[in-house]
Amino acid sequence: MKILMILAVLAAAPAFAGDTSPADLLARYSAESGTPADPSRGQALFTAAHGGGKPDTPSCTTCHTMDPTKPGQARTGKAIEPMAPSANPARFTEIAKVEKWFGRNCNSVLGRDCTAAEKADVIAWLNTL
Ligand code: HEC
Repeated sequence: MKILMILAVLAAAPAFAGDTSPADLLARYSAESGTPADPSRGQALFTAAHGGGKPDTPSCTTCHTMDPTKPGQARTGKAIEPMAPSANPARFTEIAKVEKWFGRNCNSVLGRDCTAAEKADVIAWLNTL
């Protein structure tokens, strides 16, 4: 009985531990885009004021701050955990979460979806921090 319970816990574990990693996502998005990721392009995209999206969210840094190793703040004032995997190991470990927030946030800031190349660039930069 005990062994069955342990097996059940082990089987359920991946759902909590996540289904990907920053390196895996970087490889996937780079392959999808067909170009190598560029951390400096990722930094530029993340830190620039864009326009085209919602007026109160001109930049990724509006919520995630200029220093992604530090916590950010949502428009509601709710704290956002750091974006850099070095400061927050839960980052970029769950494909559905990553896709959901890239979708939502790129549209808020840029007024469109981010391309696979842009996603790869942002992750490549965050991985260097
Ligand atoms: C309006 C505030 C806001 C802005 C602007 C914003 N984000 Fe976010 N972002 C959030 C919130 C809230 C979450 C979810 C909470 C969390 O994951 O801590 C999040 C999560 C994410 C995640 C999920 C990462 C993971 O694996 O956990 C990604 C990727 C992301 N944001 C990318 C971006 C990018 C790229 C931009 C700029 C184009 C951006 N965000 C702009 C608020 C924002």
